[in-house]
Amino acid sequence: MVSVGIDAIEIHTGKLCLDLAETFAPAHDEDPDKYRKGLGLYTSSFPDSYEDIVTMGANAAYRLLERTGHTPADIGRIDVATESAFDNSKPVSTYIAGCLEQVFDTTFHHANKGERKFACIAGTQSLNDAYNWIRAGRNRGRSALVIATDTALYARGDAGEATQGAGAVAMLISEDPSLVELSPQQGYGSADETDFLKPNQQFPSVDGKRSVQVYLARMREALSDYASVAGRMHPDDFAYIPFHTPFPGMVRKAGLLGYRHVIRDTDIEEELASEIGRQPRMEAFDDEEAYLDAVSEYTDKLKGTENYREWYERVIEPTLDISRYVGNWYTGSVHIARASALKHALETGRDLTGKRLLVASYGSGAQAETHTETVQPGWKDEIAMLTIDEQLEARHDITFEEYEHIHDVHNHDISADDTEEFTTPKNEFVFDGWGRMGER
Ligand code: HMG
Repeated sequence: MVSVGIDAIEIHTGKLCLDLAETFAPAHDEDPDKYRKGLGLYTSSFPDSYEDIVTMGANAAYRLLERTGHTPADIGRIDVATESAFDNSKPVSTYIAGCLEQVFDTTFHHANKGERKFACIAGTQSLNDAYNWIRAGRNRGRSALVIATDTALYARGDAGEATQGAGAVAMLISEDPSLVELSPQQGYGSADETDFLKPNQQFPSVDGKRSVQVYLARMREALSDYASVAGRMHPDDFAYIPFHTPFPGMVRKAGLLGYRHVIRDTDIEEELASEIGRQPRMEAFDDEEAYLDAVSEYTDKLKGTENYREWYERVIEPTLDISRYVGNWYTGSVHIARASALKHALETGRDLTGKRLLVASYGSGAQAETHTETVQPGWKDEIAMLTIDEQLEARHDITFEEYEHIHDVHNHDISADDTEEFTTPKNEFVFDGWGRMGER
């Protein structure tokens, strides 16, 4: 069976940086610890006025192709996942391909282009589409380019405002990948929900508190569905579990859910039984409410155990390193979490070759998906090429007034004549007005 997965990855962050504790919290008369400790976020990335989903996606994709020595002729498919699209007809992938064609001698003439939409999970759906296309043998030896790009902005004053972020992740999906091989085993949890949506509007309508519950409910279903195909799990099965990360505080809750699933019916659950009892089984309850109350009681006890704390520090915490500094990137978020974990392993000298990841994606509306990936021998060389630290370091720190300006720019509330740029573009694609493509 042909091995298919992520061969290479590039990340592009928005060029501006908003400090949540130093800048955002005082302007809102809030305790900085609400952001640092509660949400788990220190700073967030914003696009400068010459950046948008096309330029961020094109810049990440260009670096990816150029660095790996690929040209448009090697690419048979370009899928863009986004929930910030500005065109209801022409997919964002055509705009990005148009940018890339300005700098390559060949075109993407024979590549299938599309745009995937299902809130944040669309990035993983595009990855799965590319995997299926190659596994079906329709790729003629070519790779797929998957780009997850978003400006995740909320209305000012919305509870989600502190979780904003902007950036793009480009991934090359190929046969015999260097980074991770995807497995065919998947789990899904899906239901029609209206806690977060953007029907023909710039900013989302969000019921934030409910969205947290819906995330956990769908994730619980996806983990159970995954276990029904993969069989019994164990905490040692996975080197890391990258979850969709709207903000690290959400993953604190998801991590606990994940741990409950991986210890189910294992020696660890047995070992913990004398300390906190066994986790409740749904079959033993007549009504769902009583079952959920029992689960909540068990979870509270589990959180305090040494087993859980050690596992969380090792398997989950490293997935959050980048997210803490960039905020929510919607479709790119879970792919940032994977990159963050692999980068942490590289920096701490951990050998991951042959180890497995359980990637747990989520999109409002709502759907969760879990699948496993196996880390490939080329992972160290690939992760060593990431430039995210340098990009984060180079960001321009904005004042609160500058933040308000840039927020208005991206909401098209400011005319081009009055628009400020806070950084200087250098050898990159830029957006310079409606109808204009980026140029280098
Ligand atoms: P909020 O209501 O402003 O915050 O917004 P809060 O009062 O609930 O506080 C947040 C946490 O900080 C709480 O911890 C507080 O206790 C703690 P928790 O109880 O959750 O563990 N806290 C403090 N800690 C230390 N010191 C302090 C302090 N003060 C408070 N001084 C909310 C929270 C999530 C509602 C908001 O950020 C929001 O609406 N966000 C947008 C929606 C969202 O991100 N939902 C997440 C799940 S849905 C999802 O992930 C999909 C999404 O990515 C979109 C897509 O799929 O396309 C959003």
